[in-house]
Amino acid sequence: MSRLVREDQVTVRRVLKVNHAGETGAIKIYAAQIAVARRLFPYIVPELDQMRLDEIDHCRLFRDAMPSRDARPCRIMALWSLGGYVLGAMTALMGERMVWICTEAVESTVHQHLEEQLHFLASRDADLHALISSIQEQEIAHLREAQRRQDGQGWLHAVSVRIIGFLTDLMIWLSTWGDSTWMRRELAAARSA
Ligand SMILES: [Fe+2]
Ligand SMILES: [Fe+2]
Repeated sequence: MSRLVREDQVTVRRVLKVNHAGETGAIKIYAAQIAVARRLFPYIVPELDQMRLDEIDHCRLFRDAMPSRDARPCRIMALWSLGGYVLGAMTALMGERMVWICTEAVESTVHQHLEEQLHFLASRDADLHALISSIQEQEIAHLREAQRRQDGQGWLHAVSVRIIGFLTDLMIWLSTWGDSTWMRRELAAARSA
């Protein structure tokens, strides 16, 4: 880490901050969905709960990776938490199908972020690269599970995935005060350099 140039250190910190905030929101999305599902479709609760436990694990791993890289969690995590909870509750109240559409949209947005980060980290921070790769495998498993649970067809699916994907990015942006945009710019610049 000490051999990294200053701009790269800043980007690594941003990556950790954005991912930690994202995992916090994901925990809340699943928590809200579980609360609704317990009453309306309890048979999917074990699946959702396993995903929630995975997100708790990811959140802790990102938090643990912060001190040695001088990174800090974002200051207004409450916004992500609230946004995540509202998104989870709203989609679950719309029915079981929308739960899986929401999971698909959120997990594919997360997957895109992680994919960009892996390219950047490969030659810069091997430990964080390995950590994100292993987390990415679990996120892909969540995504596949959500796709397996629905037919993934029709306009409702296409429109909802886009809207929820947009809301997910918006929440990450708001809760990190635009850090996610800076992070993406820096990752893209490093790629084309
Ligand atoms: Fe996660
Ligand atoms: Fe996930």
